[in-house]
Order: sequence, then structure tokens, then C-alpha cells
Amino acid sequence: MIIAIDGTAASGKGSLAKNLSKSLNLHHLDSGIFYRVLAYQAIKLKINNKIDLIELSNKLSINKIIEIKKIKSENLRSSLISKKSSQIAPDKNIRKALVKLQREYVNQFLISHDGVVIDGRDIGTIVFPNADFKFYLDADIKIRAERRTQELIHLNYEVIYQDVLNDLICRDKRDKNRIEGPLIIAKDAFYIDTGNKSEEFVLQKALKFIKSF
Ligand code: DC
Repeated sequence: MIIAIDGTAASGKGSLAKNLSKSLNLHHLDSGIFYRVLAYQAIKLKINNKIDLIELSNKLSINKIIEIKKIKSENLRSSLISKKSSQIAPDKNIRKALVKLQREYVNQFLISHDGVVIDGRDIGTIVFPNADFKFYLDADIKIRAERRTQELIHLNYEVIYQDVLNDLICRDKRDKNRIEGPLIIAKDAFYIDTGNKSEEFVLQKALKFIKSF
């Protein structure tokens, strides 16, 4: 079984994906990590031009992503990496390479697991258009900015609400307006407004939807 969760940054996709995977005993894959690992490597190797970035994305492997995620897990959430990953994500060739890796990763898991919950921006539309269940999450941008500010403070980053809000405005624009894999609501997705709702409320709403089939 594949459950696809798409939505805006800080809409609670990651939390729902994690909670659903626990409840249903499925594996959770955060597809944003693929973009964040590429951004991390690009910064580390001082790669800025498009051709080299595409080459780097083609060389990326599932093992490398797992390795970097393990040792750099908190760094990958920094504002610098968030910004860089959002800047590199619109490129057609980079998306092609990372979508291929995401499919490989999930298909590997499906051999030995009952299913995978995967969250991102284009999962229900591009990566797995035939997913068994699709969700689209969103919330008012001010609520999302407050949420993300608290998350980053919790990870010991010095951030202020206004900067996080401005950053989310830019990221929403890039996510929704890019030509390749833009953030759109799949026509068969179940929409959840997560603003001022608890994680538990959102989880129960998603479970009710799944169990209605
Ligand atoms: O979900 P996230 O904030 O960790 O994602 C980091 C960046 O990667 C974000 O700017 C959008 C991009 N992304 C994407 O374009 N497609 C995905 N499936 C997942 C993330």
C-alpha cells in the first residue's frame, strides 16, 4: 500500500506521515530529505552551477541519502538548507533524478513491508499517481510560520517569526509556480486544513478516511 501526503511547507505533512505510519505499521519516507541532502552536498562541495548540480543529483544514491540523513539529521533542517533545497527543487533534471530515487526506495521497501507513507509536494501527482490513498494538507501561512518557528527554536536555531514567515512565502511561491512537479491538489486527494488542529485530530481524520474504503 502507498499513502501519498502532499502539502505546503510546515502544514503538518511530516507529522501526519509519521503518525499514520505508526498507526498502520507502515514505513515512513520523507521525500523532502532527498532535496535537503542534495542541497547539503551542494553547499559542502561549493557547487552552484546548474550542470554540476544536475551531475551531483545523478550521482546521488539511496545509501548516500541514508548515510547523510543519519549523521546530519538536524543540520538538514537549517534555514540555509531549507532555502537551498527550495532553490534547486524546480530544476527538471534534478527532479527527474530524485523522483527516480524515491520510486526505487519505495519499491525496495514494498518487497518486505506492507506499505509506505510518503510525504512531499508531488507524491500523489507525479511520483506515485496511483497511490492507494492521497492527502493534501494546508493551513493559514501565519499558523504554519508560528509552527515552524517553534520547531526551529526547539532544535536550538536562533530564528525570528518574521524571517520564517517571509521564507515560507517564498517557498510556497516556488513550490506552486514551478513548471516541473508543482505543488497542486491531486483531484483524488482528501484535503485537510490543519490550522489550529492537533496532530491527533488530523491523524483521526485521515484514519477515518482510509477506513471508509
Ligand atoms: O518538505 P521539505 O520542506 O523538507 O522539502 C524541502 C524542499 O524540497 C522544499 O523546498 C520543496 C522540495 N520538495 C519538492 O520539491 N518535492 C518533494 N516531493 C519534496 C520536497
